[in-house]
Amino acid sequence: MKEVQDHFFKLAKEEGYRARSAYKLTEIDERFHILRPGTRVLDLGACPGSWTQVASRRVGDHGLVVGIDLKPIEKRGLAGNVVVLRGDINELTRETLPPKMEGKLFDTVISDMGPDTSGVPMSDSARSVQLCHAMLDRLPFLLRTGGHATMKVYEGADYPALLQRAAGMFDEARGFKPKASRAESVEMFIVCRGYRGPREAAAQPRDPSLPQRAPSSGWKK
Ligand SMILES: C[S@@+](CC[C@H](N)C(=O)[O-])C[C@H]1O[C@@H](n2cnc3c(N)ncnc32)[C@H](O)[C@@H]1O
Repeated sequence: MKEVQDHFFKLAKEEGYRARSAYKLTEIDERFHILRPGTRVLDLGACPGSWTQVASRRVGDHGLVVGIDLKPIEKRGLAGNVVVLRGDINELTRETLPPKMEGKLFDTVISDMGPDTSGVPMSDSARSVQLCHAMLDRLPFLLRTGGHATMKVYEGADYPALLQRAAGMFDEARGFKPKASRAESVEMFIVCRGYRGPREAAAQPRDPSLPQRAPSSGWKK
């Protein structure tokens, strides 16, 4: 398995990707077709930017990729169809979206967000699941009906409820582990196709007992 990891690391260098994670999104897209030429993509937890690079290449000149992260994303070297923003998903509102969106919704939302890990699997998983719920909570003003989404999650006790919520909001939602994901990692990707729209989303509220995260930073362009 070590050879597989080294292979993706080397390949990322050769192909000019900022991180080997690029190959996780590549594999997800090859299997589930969530990125198409001309589409608008929101990339959450985008720093350093390898998913943004993959999405930017796949949507092409007529598409748009908006990358958001708590950390600054280096814009230099990214194509003209990319907009980067700095901010916290927990504070993302319709108003924080860039003017280039012209009030339209995204066709696909992708999230590779991960909390800073503490080494305590239960708590890392709970914080990762919280980030996924924060994304699902915001889909009514982010994603068009019929659109697709994918999100990284650290598997744990709250994973089944998250998958169930996603399954109620989309025609199809399933867990997927790409080959580029380290075998020993607890990370999984939930791939969702066919968003059913805001009414169905409202019928799938998150479990109120799950922790909410307090707002932290402001937004920077
Ligand atoms: C594994 S990295 C993403 C790698 C990226 N997809 C790539 O391919 O280059 C996870 C990112 O999630 C971001 N993140 C964690 N919590 C976040 C939050 N609340 N809002 C926005 N981004 C967040 C982290 O800052 C980190 O950069």
